[in-house]
Amino acid sequence: MTRIAVYPGSFDPITYGHLDLIERGVVLADSLIVAIATNPEKRTLFTVEERVELIRRALEGRPAAGRVRVDAFGGLLVDYARANGATLILRGLRAVSDFEYEFQMALMNRHLEPGIETVFMTTSAKHSFLSSRLVKEVASLGGSVDGMVPPPVIEALAGKFPRSRKPAARGPR
Ligand code: PNS
Repeated sequence: MTRIAVYPGSFDPITYGHLDLIERGVVLADSLIVAIATNPEKRTLFTVEERVELIRRALEGRPAAGRVRVDAFGGLLVDYARANGATLILRGLRAVSDFEYEFQMALMNRHLEPGIETVFMTTSAKHSFLSSRLVKEVASLGGSVDGMVPPPVIEALAGKFPRSRKPAARGPR
């Protein structure tokens, strides 16, 4: 039996924390689908097409790439997982603060589809401070996101926030 796992998320944009999880999570299954949720009510910096492309480019040349597929989905995650033959949902945990939301989602998903298990992996310590939201904030204010996101994402962020480096605020005289 082929075991398929789904790693869902917004990936707006993908970070090295996500990539680390993909590479470590792929060993749990024969193949892993990185599934970008398309929620029309959620405003994102990158379109779904851009996010798919950035993940594909970030995976290029990595050992896990051959067993990872990138896709986008709308509607319920469990419906998507079932339709794709997946029996595992992979999610990352960075800190205790992630736990409540993740726990609630895992229980809801199990309620909706008892045949699919959610598996949590802890993010590597060196990536535990990373989030797509903070990466976007830093990039939008002209800060460096080197080492936080792969090169194609650095380039794409520079395209979204051209000339965003702000002069340092003056202190009181
Ligand atoms: O990266 P995120 O934004 O934390 O990912 C959240 C995501 C996409 C995994 C979650 O919002 C989701 O599963 N959305 C799909 C809709 C759905 O199934 N909702 C019920 C889940 S409890």
